[in-house]
Formats: sequence, structure tokens, C-alpha cells
Amino acid sequence: MYEVSSEIYSETDLQQTKCEDGRLISKFQFEYPNDDEISSTKDKDGDFEVKRKRIGVIEIEHSGSTVLKLVGLQVWRGALLLADFLLYNRHNFADKNILEVGAGVGLTSIAAAIFCKNVICTDVDIGGILQLIRKNIDRNRKLLSNDIKVMEYDFKTVEYAPQLANAIEMSDIILAADVIYDDDLTECFVRVIDRIFSTTDSKRTKSIYVTLEKRFVFTLDDLETCAPCYEYFLKIAQPKPWRIEYIPTDFPQYFKYERSKHLILFKITTK
Ligand SMILES: C[S@@+](CC[C@H](N)C(=O)[O-])C[C@H]1O[C@@H](n2cnc3c(N)ncnc32)[C@H](O)[C@@H]1O
Repeated sequence: MYEVSSEIYSETDLQQTKCEDGRLISKFQFEYPNDDEISSTKDKDGDFEVKRKRIGVIEIEHSGSTVLKLVGLQVWRGALLLADFLLYNRHNFADKNILEVGAGVGLTSIAAAIFCKNVICTDVDIGGILQLIRKNIDRNRKLLSNDIKVMEYDFKTVEYAPQLANAIEMSDIILAADVIYDDDLTECFVRVIDRIFSTTDSKRTKSIYVTLEKRFVFTLDDLETCAPCYEYFLKIAQPKPWRIEYIPTDFPQYFKYERSKHLILFKITTK
């Protein structure tokens, strides 16, 4: 069967090791943001010496390639862009309730929980993905400022378990990395956004941060290249009472990956 593979495995040295079941363990190195660098020594004039960069490593177990249905078992660039954005905004988000949807193997939630206390990581439970997220959280526990809750959130669900309904209601920041790649799923994601905003009240506003990679194809109909999944999302989001704000991706890069110009980040709020 046709398999896809994330670009990041070939563009970065992830010091991968292979597990017995064929899965990989990759080391995602990142630089701690500046104010977390340690400087304890002073030079002979009493000035603090130049700080050395502090490097962290998130270890993630994942698949190297998968069928389309199981792409969540891999790590995609959108997860790293969102992780960078979270590290950059660590002071704004530290005390917020963060809910990640379509989290894949959990890298972005793990990055969030380095500085944020309340992180809930969700995905549809296929291919053992929730179990893998829990395993990855365990692997990286020493980096985290608090535990991460893991639960299922299937975009296709209509019946919400009380625990999930409560997590949505209490959330301030919702994260979604690279979940716009299939039109049926995009329609479900748009309903998920509606559902999330339906629980917004005057006490708690919600912001949804979405990353995606515009994947271009050449269409004979138009005789030009287009990014159909992204364009479909914009089309069905257009009538909604939402504000979509594009965030320039020129903030510092803490993780190693190619931040291509087709990798975008936007924030959705209600009007
Ligand atoms: C391209 S992957 C992105 C994974 C991860 N966020 C990343 O960027 O590395 C798409 C994600 O959407 C999730 N997904 C697929 N169908 C879903 C559904 N019905 N409900 C919720 N999430 C779903 C997949 O499991 C996967 O985690």
C-alpha cells in the first residue's frame, strides 16, 4: 500500500535508533530560549560572562513512513513550528489551559509542557496513537513542568464524553498542527472549531493556533499549481464568524527543521 514519509527525517540529523518493531526513536534537539540560559559566573570585572546556550532534547518514538490513515504516527514540520511558537510565547501561555488536537505522537504538547502547567494532548485513537503519546510523555518526563493529560478527541465524534467536554470548556489555547490535509477531515475540523467556540463565554476567550504546510499540486483544470487542502479550508471557513489572523513566522527557531515559506501559522478567534 502507498506510504508517505515526513520530510523532516532527511533534513535534520535526529540521531535515530531503530526499535525491534521497526519504529524509530528520534532526538529532537532544541535551544532553550535566552532568559533560561544559565549564567552563574562573573568575569574579573564583576560582569556576568557570556551565557552558554542551553540545549534540550525531546526523544520521540514514531514511525518512519505510514499509510495516509496513520500519518499521526509520524512527526511533521507543523508540529515543530508550533513548538517554536510555544517556546517563544512561554510567558504568555505558562498559566493557560492548553488543549492540543490531532497531536500525533505528542511532540508539540511535550514542548508546551516544558513551560506550561496545564496541557491536554488529544488525537483519534487509531494505530495505538494514544498509547504512543503516553510512552513519549514518559520518555520526556524530566523536561516537563507538570504532567500532560492524554485523551481521545475524534473530530468525527458527535457524542462528547464528559471529560472531553470539560477539557474543551476549560481551554484557553487550542493547538492544531498539520490537521488540514484531507477534505473530509477538514470539514470535521471546522465543526470541531464551531464546537470549541460554542463553549466560549465572557470569562474565557479561546484562541486556536493552526499550523499547516501548503502542499502544492499541479492541476490540469487550472493549469497552475495550487494548495487544494488549504484552499478548501479557507472556502468553508469563510462564512464562519471567525477572525483568521496570520502570524509572521519570523520568531526564533529553537528546533532544527526547514522553516519553508509554505509552512504557515494562523490564529482563529471569534469575531
Ligand atoms: C499530519 S498528522 C499531524 C500530526 C502532528 N500534529 C504533527 O504535526 O506532527 C495529522 C493528525 O490528524 C489526526 N487525525 C486524523 N483523523 C482524525 C480524527 N478523525 N480526529 C482527530 N484527529 C485526527 C491524525 O491522527 C494525526 O495526528
